[in-house]
Order: sequence, then C-alpha cells, then structure tokens
Amino acid sequence: MDNRSIGMFDSGVGGLTVLKEVKKELPQENIIYLGDTKRFPYGSKSKESIIQLTQKGMDFLISQDVKAIVIACGTATSQALEEMQKRYRIPIMGIIDSTVQYIKKKENLRKVGVIATAGTIRSNGWEKKLKKEIPEIEVKSKACPLLAPMAEEGWISNEVAKLTIKEYLKDMKNVDALILGCTHYPLFEPLIKEELGDTVEIIHTGKLVSKQLKEMLLEQKEEGESFSANTQIYLTDRETNFIQVASRMLENTEIEKQIKEIQI
Ligand code: DGL
Repeated sequence: MDNRSIGMFDSGVGGLTVLKEVKKELPQENIIYLGDTKRFPYGSKSKESIIQLTQKGMDFLISQDVKAIVIACGTATSQALEEMQKRYRIPIMGIIDSTVQYIKKKENLRKVGVIATAGTIRSNGWEKKLKKEIPEIEVKSKACPLLAPMAEEGWISNEVAKLTIKEYLKDMKNVDALILGCTHYPLFEPLIKEELGDTVEIIHTGKLVSKQLKEMLLEQKEEGESFSANTQIYLTDRETNFIQVASRMLENTEIEKQIKEIQI
C-alpha cells in the first residue's frame, strides 16, 4: 500500500476527462494534476517543444513525490512519452497503449477512426501502435485543431461546436469505432454520438487508462487507501476559463479552492 499521490499532466482542462475516470476507478487515490495552461495549446507545437514542456511537467510532479504519472494528453503521449519513460524511473503511462490493447481484443473493431490534435496526427502515434498490434486494422485519422481551444472556452454544446463536429466527422460515418485521441474531446461526446449514431463505438481513452492504472498499482502493490483522498490542481496560468469548465466537468462548485498557480 502506498498513499503517495498519482501525478496527472495535460496542457489544460482536457486531462480532467481522464482524472474524472481515475477518481471513479480509484476513489482512494490522492491526485496531483498539472495543467500547463500558460502554454496551451500543445497541439500546434513541434515535437521538440512538446518534449521540453512535458519534461518540465514531469520534473514538477516528481518534485511533489508522486508514485506514478499519467500523461493525460494525446499530444504529449504521442510525441514525448517514450522519451519520458527513458529519462525517468517512475512509472509513466499515456493514453494510447490501453486503447490499442482494448481494440486488439475486439475483433469487430477493425476499421477505426482517430480524431486528435494536429501534432498527434502528424506524429502518426496512434496508427503506428494500432498497426503494430493489429496488422490488419484500417485506420482513418483526422486532425481537429479547433476542438481543444473550443473546449477551453467552454464551447462544447453550442451551434459552433455542433457545426464544427459535423464538419470534422463527415468522413467518419462508416468506421466501427472512433477513438477520441485528444483528452479534451470527451467533452464533445454527446455531439459526437448525435452525429455518428449508435453504429459507431466511441472510445473514451480515460476509461481505459484508469483501468490500466489500477492494474499497474495492484501489480506493484502500490494502491492507495486514503479514505479522504485529495485532488490538488496546479496551473501554470490561473487566468483562463479552466475554473468554469472544470467546475462543470467535475460537478464541483468548490474546485477553485483546490487550484494553485505555479511557475515552471
Ligand atoms: N488535451 C491535449 C491532447 O490530448 C492537448 C490539446 C492541446 O493542448 O492542443 O492532445
């Protein structure tokens, strides 16, 4: 048993869609979440910049004595995870592997769509891992650069969001499953479901990451047993819509008390 916190990292509010699933799956775990809101968006940055920024995030979380880290960011997972796993001894996981293993077990999912930031799609991170594990799979990828900034604005259900989702998904109607390859995208899940109907399985990476995390902690006998588990959120810039969006997402009107600004 280990009551140290789990570290979670994203460029903004998106990673909270993973945090929400981790709290459901592991309610007795303390969590420290870092949102690099000062440098959002990551999706349009170079791989070199993503590696540098992700390393700063890892260094901060490790300075808080976390026992493991979830990179709750598709852009950082696809471009910096392997480098972080080489540089640090602490267990670090991203959002791609658990989804690839899930699809591998589902023989009815062999034509999948992936929507993600421009950086993630450019890295080909999803397609490379999917084809390595499932050679026969057909992957259709689409960069959706407007969605994460819209989510940060809280524009997740208005007319702009509806039209943007319709435009981005117009070629995704005949896939077996659609992977939400950016952690901001589950915020649009109702609109995506409406657009694609019931024939397309929508894959929320956070649900699968939380199960992978639970398995890892149990295997290493590092699960926490905090009966008053705490969530501490650090932002590199408080002056954003983060508080409003997070309060709605986590259904917590007191969230502001759990947020501190840091300089890294
Ligand atoms: N939420 C992040 C992701 O999953 C990044 C969005 C961004 O910063 O562009 O890719």
